[in-house]
Amino acid sequence: MSERLPIMYNKKPCYDIVFTQSFRELAGELQGLYGGPEQQGLESRKICIVTDSTVDGLYGGQVQEQLEGICRKVVKYAFPSGEEHKNLDTVKDIYTFLIRENLDRKDLLLALGGGVVGDTTGYVAATYLRGIDFIQVPTTLLAQTDSSIGGKTGVDFDGYKNMVGAFKMPRLVYMNLDTLRTLDDRQFFSGFAEVMKHGLIRDGILYQWLIENMYEICDRDPDVLQEMLLRSCTVKKNVVEKDPTEQGERALLNFGHTIGHAVEKYKNFQLCHGECVALGAVAAAYISWKRDMLSMEEYYEVRDMFVPFRLPISVEDIDPQEILRLTKSDKKMASGQITFVLLKKIGKAVLDRTVTDQEILDAINEIHFSDEDAHA
Ligand code: GLY
Repeated sequence: MSERLPIMYNKKPCYDIVFTQSFRELAGELQGLYGGPEQQGLESRKICIVTDSTVDGLYGGQVQEQLEGICRKVVKYAFPSGEEHKNLDTVKDIYTFLIRENLDRKDLLLALGGGVVGDTTGYVAATYLRGIDFIQVPTTLLAQTDSSIGGKTGVDFDGYKNMVGAFKMPRLVYMNLDTLRTLDDRQFFSGFAEVMKHGLIRDGILYQWLIENMYEICDRDPDVLQEMLLRSCTVKKNVVEKDPTEQGERALLNFGHTIGHAVEKYKNFQLCHGECVALGAVAAAYISWKRDMLSMEEYYEVRDMFVPFRLPISVEDIDPQEILRLTKSDKKMASGQITFVLLKKIGKAVLDRTVTDQEILDAINEIHFSDEDAHA
């Protein structure tokens, strides 16, 4: 059964997240959004589906079919899959396509895909003609639990992730959870790292629930995944509603990302984002333990809970000093000081600006799998 979670922005209703098991309700949702008496309706609008080559092959046709007939024209733009295409060249190519297809300010974009598609399309929507409406239709667990919610859009620049971007709220986030079936294991569990993050930072009950439902989650039981996403998105909702533009509390969502992004960059994006978040989360939990915020038992539990979800807790072939340097060059620095997210307890994260280079280095060494570990 479909469920819905409304998201507020500046204390006003802004958009809904719809959790469904197919694309069949998408047309009705859009008609509901644009069909009110004071609105112009969809008949006069064009919709441009923006997707990538992989998702296009899987769902592009189905989604296009759902939308044909409810609006003036449906067009589709697919760019090659992969993080390396999340850049300003792709943005420029999409602008060119939209101009060629004569999309104007009342037309809409529909982002069909994972985080790369959602973030890039959102940035185009924020800037094309100074802003047009966009709909998020996330098809990966990472996008469904995290990147499609909260209005962060943008692209990578010069090797830095999400360096150029804008806050732009979607008009609707439509999730067909059946799309999770076609994800390969690595992509699925990479997204799961962000779900685990939500439990760790804000919801100890969600964290316990994830452990109790481990087998069903790994088997991708549809009802369990829907409940998991509803719970996980509720954590994200509560954080972004209070601090939509990351003036403070929203930075808690960066738990695991400070060292995680550095590893991701060091490994030249060969590891999945969620794998790096898991490594970064272990490192942050380690610092929390060393500061007596978590007990030793809690630290080892947090660390080991990533393993059954096929996420790494250590990484080979890294240079800890270089990871430290990359950590410090990440954009999460403010006035030369890194804002770290630590765990006060499971289910409660705090921001901390006092973490020293030595603490970071010790944490990087903790997640560094070296030959000595192998022979121990
Ligand atoms: N993915 C982190 C945030 O939305 O703030």
